[in-house]
Amino acid sequence: MAKKAKSKSKSRTPVAKSASKAKSKAAAKRAASKRAAPKSSAKSKSKSKSAASKSAASKSRVKLVERVAGGLAGAAALAGIAAVASKSRAAKRGNGKVQALKAPSKKPFGQDGKALDGVRILDFTHVQSGPTCTQLLAWFGADVIKVERPGVGDITRTQLVDVKGADSLYFTMLNHNKRSITIDSKHPQGKRVLNELIKTCDVLVENFAPGALDRMGLTWDHIHKLNPRMIVASVKGFGPGKYEDCKVYENVAQCTGGAASTTGFRDGLPLVTGAQIGDSGTGLHLALGIVAALYQRNRTGRGQKVLAAMQDGVLNLCRVKLRDQQRLAAGPLTEYSQYGEGIPFGDATPRAGNDSGGGQPGRILKCKGWEEDPNAYIYFITQAPVWGAICDVIGEPDWKTDPEFATPKARLSKLNQIFDRIEQWTMTKTKFEAMDILNEYDIPCGPILSMKEIAEDESLRKTGTLVEVDHPVRGTYLTVGNPIKLSDSISEVTRSPLLGEHTDEILTKVLGMDKKTVAEIKASGALSAPEKTDKAA
Ligand code: COA
Repeated sequence: MAKKAKSKSKSRTPVAKSASKAKSKAAAKRAASKRAAPKSSAKSKSKSKSAASKSAASKSRVKLVERVAGGLAGAAALAGIAAVASKSRAAKRGNGKVQALKAPSKKPFGQDGKALDGVRILDFTHVQSGPTCTQLLAWFGADVIKVERPGVGDITRTQLVDVKGADSLYFTMLNHNKRSITIDSKHPQGKRVLNELIKTCDVLVENFAPGALDRMGLTWDHIHKLNPRMIVASVKGFGPGKYEDCKVYENVAQCTGGAASTTGFRDGLPLVTGAQIGDSGTGLHLALGIVAALYQRNRTGRGQKVLAAMQDGVLNLCRVKLRDQQRLAAGPLTEYSQYGEGIPFGDATPRAGNDSGGGQPGRILKCKGWEEDPNAYIYFITQAPVWGAICDVIGEPDWKTDPEFATPKARLSKLNQIFDRIEQWTMTKTKFEAMDILNEYDIPCGPILSMKEIAEDESLRKTGTLVEVDHPVRGTYLTVGNPIKLSDSISEVTRSPLLGEHTDEILTKVLGMDKKTVAEIKASGALSAPEKTDKAA
């Protein structure tokens, strides 16, 4: 495992943790106590600086130096791996030919730049899905230039406002580490600036309604002619087909991607989840597509279009429910509670409440205090290998050998009885007491944590998953930092930009425009909101 300079303590990820975790009571106790007093090498610092400063990087910054052993999951892990791969441009094996690999850096881990250093993003995103994607790329080190409509900006700046006159948390929490330039993309001089940006950027990311980019004149042909290396990445609600022209928001995607019909209880309405799997989930998918396209460009020298449709992204996350749809043809889904309750299955994957599947059934159970506290619950999994320990903990040792309970198959038809008995036990403990006791026996479980409890979680703060950031207008706020940890890439969270904060900087330093040209473009009105007439005002 890589050691990082200035870091004395060790950080253990779930993978490393489980690999080393003995099945003994003592080892499990250690795991439980680690949660209470986690070790981490992460260092964070928060600096507040003046709003007048022109460099976002030099302003309110939380710098996190992280060290990671591994243990990333699913798409998030893939995005991390792909980002690392894009850093090693010189180390490639193209067309099956093995080429000389670049010698490993001699710099200490965490001190050789960021994974996406040198990648510049023209960020035409708004609301949540697109900004999630470009924020991730920015955390990996890309230079993200956010283009916003003069005077208005991303609509979320003024949505769900909690501090009058300040950008909303909706905006600030989705647009860290970016620069902002205001451009009227339909103004001739605005188009001039955009064309120059297209020439200098590697990726254009957008999530406008279908056709909006083309209506701005920014067609694929136009972009590709100006910059054949440009990758054009889009979030849309649907892929090609009968709904391709539709506008889509989060819950529409959850409903059309299979999540809503499979979430909730069988006898209740379809439910949407709090996790933003349509917006943030699709942004994550798009980020992976972009780093893959960047990697392919190393070999081909040309850009390509990347599309992540929200319906597709949600369906990808609902993969196991499509699995169950096909299993229905072979008979009832025995791990669903309704099987044990003798309720027949219909012709589509039903809602499964809080069931978890297979030989490891799980439920949410009440804990001490549930009458007053809406989150006094624990998720309890009756994992087959620890069935004996479960029987001992809840005081039913006979169930270990009773043929009615001894095997996972025998238990499936009695899940209600079993979980009722377990709940009698969990109701005598708080969710944290239950967690500690169950972990002594290696029984998988998890307290239902409220957002308040998560916001106060010290271990999440130490790893940089939760970060406090200073903002010149709104003050300090809490945000979710980069959830993907790279062991050789410094991760820092800087505040979101003010509207148009970097317009001058980008025109002069990125595009190299002289004062006269900048003045000419500004005078045209392409970068500023139109003056309000008395009537309009
Ligand atoms: N200068 C000038 N015009 C600009 C501009 C700029 N800098 N930025 C945006 N606009 C214009 C667009 O060109 C468009 O004009 P047009 O309709 O005349 O072509 C207009 O602003 C509105 O853009 P649109 O994307 O249609 O926004 P909307 O508020 O009407 O719809 C969504 C919002 C999210 C529903 C829609 O963008 C969408 O379906 N996006 C794809 C799916 C998605 O990402 N959904 C999740 C969002 S979290």
